[in-house]
Amino acid sequence: MIIAIDGPSGAGKSTVAKLLSKKLNFEYIDTGAMYRALALKARMCRIEVCAENEGEIDKMLKTTSVDYSNSCIYLDNVNVESSIRAEDISIGASKISALKNVRTRMVELQRKIAENKDVVLDGRDIGTKVFPDADFKFFITASEQTRAERRYRQIEASGKTADFSNVLADLKQRDINDTTRENSPLRMAEDAILIDTTDMDIVETVEAISRIIGGSNVL
Ligand code: C5P
Repeated sequence: MIIAIDGPSGAGKSTVAKLLSKKLNFEYIDTGAMYRALALKARMCRIEVCAENEGEIDKMLKTTSVDYSNSCIYLDNVNVESSIRAEDISIGASKISALKNVRTRMVELQRKIAENKDVVLDGRDIGTKVFPDADFKFFITASEQTRAERRYRQIEASGKTADFSNVLADLKQRDINDTTRENSPLRMAEDAILIDTTDMDIVETVEAISRIIGGSNVL
């Protein structure tokens, strides 16, 4: 069974998807982590992510392995979970994920990793592109201000300092990148269920989704 959770940055998708997968005893795949790993690799190779460097990025892609298993992201067989959450990697991921060959490769990988499994995947294009026939599709969103505040608190909780106006500006930029790119722009699938979490906490969100899944008699 495939449960697709899409939505903009900072909407709480990954926390919700993780909790939901635990509750259902499903695997969890954080597809954003896969793009983040590629952004990290580009930084390690000192390749600036831009359209002019697409050829170089294609070459990098051919010699790079990305995997997601047991809720951890592996880049060239090394667990890089702790290195991919920095703000510059977020922006890098947003840029690298707009490239056609990058998307083709990651979508292929995501389908392969999820093959024959019960999985909750979160991302931007799961319900529209990766698994258009997913059993359940949710589009989780929240107001821009709320999403930026959540991201800000997350950074502070990790022991780092952040400037709220920068966090908000980065979030807005990523929204623009994600929704206006040519390849698989972020949009809600026609058959997805919209969940606005502006006034909901994580537990309420997971409960709302669980009720919908449970009420469907599919599980
Ligand atoms: O979800 P997360 O913020 O970790 O994703 C990082 C970036 O990767 C996003 O800003 C988005 O540009 C890109 N992404 C994507 N498609 C996905 C998941 C993430 O384009 N399925």
